[in-house]
Amino acid sequence: MLRPISRLLGILTGVMLLVSPATPFGQIRYAVGQNVVPVFEGWERNPDGSLNFVFGYMNRNYEEQLDIPVGPDNAFEPGGVDQGQPTHFYTRRQQFVFKVRVPKDWGKKDLVWTLNIRGKPEKAFASLLPIWELDTGVYQENRGGPGELGEYDDPPTIKLVGDARRTASVGSNLSLTVEVTDDGRPLPREGRGAPPQPVRDSDGALITPVRGGNGNAVPGPRRESPLTQAVVKLDPSMRLGVIWVVYRGDARSVTFDPMKVAVTNGRAATVARFTAPGSYVLRGYADDGIYPVPVDVNVTVSSGTLSTAGTASDVSLDYEFFKTKVQPIFLEKRPGHARCVVCHETGTPRLQPLSEGATTWNEEQSQKNFEAWKRVVVPGNPSMSKLLLHPLAAEAGGDRFHAGGKHWTSQSDPEWRTLADWVNGAK
Ligand code: HEC
Repeated sequence: MLRPISRLLGILTGVMLLVSPATPFGQIRYAVGQNVVPVFEGWERNPDGSLNFVFGYMNRNYEEQLDIPVGPDNAFEPGGVDQGQPTHFYTRRQQFVFKVRVPKDWGKKDLVWTLNIRGKPEKAFASLLPIWELDTGVYQENRGGPGELGEYDDPPTIKLVGDARRTASVGSNLSLTVEVTDDGRPLPREGRGAPPQPVRDSDGALITPVRGGNGNAVPGPRRESPLTQAVVKLDPSMRLGVIWVVYRGDARSVTFDPMKVAVTNGRAATVARFTAPGSYVLRGYADDGIYPVPVDVNVTVSSGTLSTAGTASDVSLDYEFFKTKVQPIFLEKRPGHARCVVCHETGTPRLQPLSEGATTWNEEQSQKNFEAWKRVVVPGNPSMSKLLLHPLAAEAGGDRFHAGGKHWTSQSDPEWRTLADWVNGAK
């Protein structure tokens, strides 16, 4: 097993260097292949005297989201490895992600969170040193919230409507509704100007213009901050909202429609959809611009039938079409990309290695390819099929990331259409 893996990694490293130009500061920007650093943000006191240690993380990759299951590689000590930490890690710096509550007599000892991936273990040491105490001002400064610095603000509250344990099936809609209250503070101030909006620079990184002396946004030097990188952040038009993330589970298989919802009349509703069976923890944060306050939903997703998609469940995938029309696409060379077969000969979903001297697959190999690749599609439903979403540019409706690159920039690309036709049952 070792050889194929190292080979795939070798190819990935090659790709990485292509897509990672140096920054003006001479630092390499890594799309993939880096580790995640746990971060202790500080501690705070609860009304009952108990204390919270607050944590976040820094995923060093610009494009690669990572999953690290709870266990020796994602562990707390003392007090048990699982203390409610995430297992899914979005890219770059994510602050104030979760809290661990400890008793008021916690004392001087450290609470340690370890993340170990790719042989690069990293630890965050949480302690009650006075300089690490969090207050409204710290949240406000780091999250770009409204109001005068340090102005009094109560965090919002959030409550899930319905059961915290849900079941869903692939392709169906799961409704998620929460009730949110807030003190309405701080009030937006005249003259403080709209918060600077992040923009994309030439190599796609988000940057935030800096504020000028008059408080207005002015074009500034390239500057990346937790603010521009945050997944949990209100849209500029929102004063109070809910932001949904995948906290545990494969986020590539989940879409929220929408991910950010404004609270109206004390409520916010969204819909989650899944493209793969499994267990997920979805987390909604009520956000008043300063404090993010979470609620979790545990969802068990079964493969299910696509009865909601009308005739979709009647669609059957045609083997001949796959063999003669789809397979050639896996062998085709597209500029700037390796051929699918180069990586997928050893990765998942698997393509059979071509026999010595052959330019295409024989009957037996094609059968095996068919079996492997029908698992990454939902018959009758291209927009739920990984085969269609993974190599398609995000701007064209694809998903966020495919380690093998985005081979198509439009759904009208003839190759992409052929794949969609196969998924729709073409013969
Ligand atoms: C440079 C190597 C490389 C190339 C080229 C490549 N892939 Fe991938 N692909 C991967 C890796 C690694 C993964 C797993 C990580 C990920 O999902 O990004 C993957 C994942 C996938 C998945 C999702 C599998 C799953 O179960 O989540 C699909 C579908 C896929 N590739 C299709 C393709 C197609 C179609 C092509 C050609 C158009 C292609 N890939 C080209 C490396 C590659």
